[in-house]
Amino acid sequence: MASSFGAAQVLVASNRGPVSYEVADDGSLRAKRGGGGLVSGLSAIGPEAGALWVCSALSDGDREAVRRGVGEDGVRMLDVPADVHADAYNGIANSVLWFVHHMLYQTPLEPVFGAEFRRQWASYETYNRAFAEALAEEAAEGAAVLVQDYHLTLVPGMLRELRPDLRIGHFSHTPWAPPEYFAMLPDDIARQVLQGMLGADRLGFLTRRWADAFTACCERFAGGPGDTRIGVHGLGADADFLRARSHEADVDERMAALKEEIGEGRRTIVRVDRTELSKNIVRGLLAYRQLLDDRPEWRERVVHVAFAYPSRQDLAVYRDYTAEVQRLADEINERYGTPGWRPVVLHVKDDFARSLAAYRLADVALVNPIRDGMNLVAKEVPVVSDTGCALVLSREAGAHEELGDDAITVNPYDVVETAGALHEALSMRPEDRTERSKRLAAAATALPPARWFLDQLEALREA
Ligand code: G6P
Repeated sequence: MASSFGAAQVLVASNRGPVSYEVADDGSLRAKRGGGGLVSGLSAIGPEAGALWVCSALSDGDREAVRRGVGEDGVRMLDVPADVHADAYNGIANSVLWFVHHMLYQTPLEPVFGAEFRRQWASYETYNRAFAEALAEEAAEGAAVLVQDYHLTLVPGMLRELRPDLRIGHFSHTPWAPPEYFAMLPDDIARQVLQGMLGADRLGFLTRRWADAFTACCERFAGGPGDTRIGVHGLGADADFLRARSHEADVDERMAALKEEIGEGRRTIVRVDRTELSKNIVRGLLAYRQLLDDRPEWRERVVHVAFAYPSRQDLAVYRDYTAEVQRLADEINERYGTPGWRPVVLHVKDDFARSLAAYRLADVALVNPIRDGMNLVAKEVPVVSDTGCALVLSREAGAHEELGDDAITVNPYDVVETAGALHEALSMRPEDRTERSKRLAAAATALPPARWFLDQLEALREA
């Protein structure tokens, strides 16, 4: 057996990996490295220490890289057939599991678990098996494997069967549905998801609330969590990186351009999101419109800077939502705007430097998701904002567990309350705002990404 073991001592598995490729005009491949907590966490260990990241080939460039055998040390891309990936990613992961955990279904019509769902589920199994097999091949004896998220719930159980010697962890970056909602899934599928995850030695969640919901689901469908340990690791913002990056020249340039768009002497309410159904961007705009109605004294004196970056545009419901965000922003600008004042500055082209520029300028950050595993924007803005910002925060964001004391809490469905919270945030005394923002920043950075990753690894080794 020993000869069939691989060399990697620490493995991460996720759908989206740390690097993606583009085919340039001259036919060469250009690599683009992603950011984020996991990337910095894993780079703290590094490929020379035997760390390997297994991920999907997602773009044409990625598939071409796999075909040509081009790659980076420490990364292995899996090229599962595009139709299998589409069923698993768009069909099951994003249209079913994401919807269940974020409670997004409009239940009179959805979900319908029919033959199409069963067909896609078979692809999801195939997709998970491809990961389990690749991990089994690459892992050294007794290696630690950290599987990420709802795309790969079946991997721990499959991998356990192939390689009982491994330490297997799984981390959920989303909320977990309460049992009454999770129970919408067909019973056999609900059990399969839970048992797949319970194949791990240890499961991680972003908050106690999601961990408890998972345990409750196990009690209802799988006779409890058994020997699998369950831990909470509240991923924090990376203060050092953010503070340095937000003072680079490109951010300064974006700030100057944004200031032009905002106009002299106005307050800013900032939001930065993927255009994601769970982010509640439409109700955020409705709340802002309500503010302008209820408190006309803010007209001309405030601008809502809303960045809504395209996401999951293969799904019609995301395309429709994106269009509604644009329509509502236009409507507010037409109805309230004046020659010198555009009430909503909406940008939809993803631009990290511009996001940081908006963070620096924020007087108020609006983070009002319907449900969110954590929400890093809520943690990042107080760290970056130049003068300290007030935070209007949904009670349904995981970040609320850590930031609730110094934020202004809202029910994400209540746009009148949210409008009131925006007014309260805009009216906060500057010294209060600065103090609260400092406390928010301290709480937000308690568990920086590299530490978050290493904590999980240590806990897994001890499990
Ligand atoms: C968000 C969620 C993660 C998820 C990711 C997938 O960041 O918090 O749980 O893995 O989206 O996004 P993607 O663009 O790959 O569908």
